[in-house]
Amino acid sequence: MQPFRIHVFLCDQQKPEGVPCCSARGSVQTLEALRREVHACGLDNEVQVTSCGSLGLCEHGPNMVVYPEGTWYSGVTAADVPEIVRSHFQQGAPVQRLVRTDVDGLSAEIQASREKMLAARRARDAAGVLPDDLNDRIRGFQESRTVVTALELDLFTAVGVGASAAEVAGRIHTDPRATEMLLHALSALRLLVKREGIFHNSPEAARYLTDGSRDNARPALLHTAHLWHRWSTLTDCVRTGTSVTRDETAPGSEDWTEAFIAAMHRNASERAPLVVRTVGTSNVTRMLDVGGGSGAYSIAFALANSELHADILDQASVEPITMRHIRAAGVEDRVRVRAGDLRSDPLGKGYDLVFISAICHMLSVEENLDLLRRCHAAVAPSGRVVIQDFILESDKTAPRFAALFALNMLVGTPGGSNYSALEYTSWLGESGFREVRHVKLPGVTGLMIGSRQ
Ligand SMILES: C[S@@+](CC[C@H](N)C(=O)[O-])C[C@H]1O[C@@H](n2cnc3c(N)ncnc32)[C@H](O)[C@@H]1O
Ligand code: FES
Repeated sequence: MQPFRIHVFLCDQQKPEGVPCCSARGSVQTLEALRREVHACGLDNEVQVTSCGSLGLCEHGPNMVVYPEGTWYSGVTAADVPEIVRSHFQQGAPVQRLVRTDVDGLSAEIQASREKMLAARRARDAAGVLPDDLNDRIRGFQESRTVVTALELDLFTAVGVGASAAEVAGRIHTDPRATEMLLHALSALRLLVKREGIFHNSPEAARYLTDGSRDNARPALLHTAHLWHRWSTLTDCVRTGTSVTRDETAPGSEDWTEAFIAAMHRNASERAPLVVRTVGTSNVTRMLDVGGGSGAYSIAFALANSELHADILDQASVEPITMRHIRAAGVEDRVRVRAGDLRSDPLGKGYDLVFISAICHMLSVEENLDLLRRCHAAVAPSGRVVIQDFILESDKTAPRFAALFALNMLVGTPGGSNYSALEYTSWLGESGFREVRHVKLPGVTGLMIGSRQ
């Protein structure tokens, strides 16, 4: 049975630098061109394109096999794609100059490649060489640091529509020699392309990392740049058991706060529709958003129910940013911000919904218990509390994102961490909430919901 008329497997295997592979020979561009062309020719429902691991013809890539007949192609560049789609996929005539017809030679080459690969693996194993993926993981910070530095310097904006190293250095006021080295490294990471001495942004860098682009993520990514410095203190934090830099929950510099709230706003705007749909807004006319940040969730709740009024409690330094978002959404008549300290200030009373998103991970166990007890008093008799956070499984080794994020709180807060559904259930119960349940959501966060009654 074939759900598609044609199924194409194109190898995009990456191998260590210097080892021949389809990826090093441009398979990514071929794959993109293939998907684009299949779509442009209206063949999406007939032709399925799947990327795959090595097909064993690594020195002649990019390689691909077309089923059901099993036609093997080698050396397929992006420029060959229109001809293959038209001639082979539409007219049934494979492009002979790229087809491998020597079946015996093909099998022998695949077999020889497999033996070579296994012999190399055995030799490395016998010599006790560190596996590539482990090595890459340990050195991963180099790539991250390279991109983060480019973001800090706003280098992609400086590259603009194309610039020499000297022009970029002049625009961002950096050393020309060092700037050129950075530009070369970013080109190796494929965020830039160098042509005749001029650097150009890749489509991805131009879209997501340059000022003026609608999808520019740099303001939010600068928060990651700030976190980088904290993460470099992880060893000392593990020794001492707490953050050795400034407290995440204390008011920061204006730059820090802008980047932090921009990062929170980006995540929150993406998740808010799902959260609002899951929590629902019927019977909610008053909600309290504890540590509401940019206000993205309160705004989404208010837009979903015209009767709903929201109070956002956050630090005084965040208030002007939150107000900007509230005004931009045109809900200033129903969404208000109150400057205060969620650890100690009165929370108010009679709320149908108390929403606590991405807050509990900043706090210690004792602080969470205290906050939830005060939230219980703030919830109306028929109301609910909803916690959104990165909820860990009981043994705390998964999900991976949440387990790593716990370290983010170790390096950034005096007592924060990530917690399991079991812990939340127990705290909510101790604070007086009933019918406590864990709602798993697609993605990295989940909800814990408790009713007052
Ligand atoms: C991780 S962000 C979450 C923002 C928002 N709830 C969301 O999910 O997008 C944490 C928020 O808590 C606020 N915050 C931290 N400590 C606080 C405190 N002691 N009192 C009030 N707000 C605080 C921060 O300013 C920030 O807006
Ligand atoms: S890497 Fe593509 S065939 Fe081996």
